[in-house]
Amino acid sequence: MLVINFKTYASATGQKAVDLARICDKVAHEVKVPILIAVQNVDLFRVARQVSIPVLAQHIDPVVYGSHTGHDLAEAILENGAYGVLIDHSEDRVSLDNIKQSIDRAKSVGLLTIVCVDTPKKASQVSKFSPDYIAIEPPELIGGDISVSTAKPEIISDTVAVVNNVPVLCGAGVKSKDDVSKSKELGSKGILIASGVTKANNPEKVIRELVKGFL
Ligand code: G3P
Repeated sequence: MLVINFKTYASATGQKAVDLARICDKVAHEVKVPILIAVQNVDLFRVARQVSIPVLAQHIDPVVYGSHTGHDLAEAILENGAYGVLIDHSEDRVSLDNIKQSIDRAKSVGLLTIVCVDTPKKASQVSKFSPDYIAIEPPELIGGDISVSTAKPEIISDTVAVVNNVPVLCGAGVKSKDDVSKSKELGSKGILIASGVTKANNPEKVIRELVKGFL
């Protein structure tokens, strides 16, 4: 699967998030590879009502209904159209305890959970909390032009080896279909990508090209 993280890019915020999501939706219906998008939590409602592909939140807080001003509640994320949630992204790190509680809260309402990690060791720790997916992303490669499968291929296979069969995704610096196919060979079940799509002049062309790496 291809998970496109909109982050807080200008090209993927507000109405532009809807525009980009529509492009992803269109391509997803023409190819055989599942395409998911992770939008800013504040854009969930406006995006989710315009597309039929799964929309993920970028953050969740392990709180319950009540007095938790400024927090993102699992029930609200779900009700605003999310299919799942990214947890502990490299740009939104939380404690191990918070990761566990966030997975539990997300699962309690039926949200898919993708936990991001930076090392196989952390992947192993997180796998004990049984998330739906673990995404390995070396932080130093995020936003760059050299992909994880080129710069650190072993980090993908090492992660796959220690996560007790939790499916592994990978990301950071992914730009081409070759990056995707190499990740797949190393055991990754999917890709997390941001800048390769959000900064592209023609995101539709890029997404169509990336998808070929899975086939
Ligand atoms: O969540 C995906 C992300 O961190 C990778 O970013 O820009 O290197 O594709 P990018």
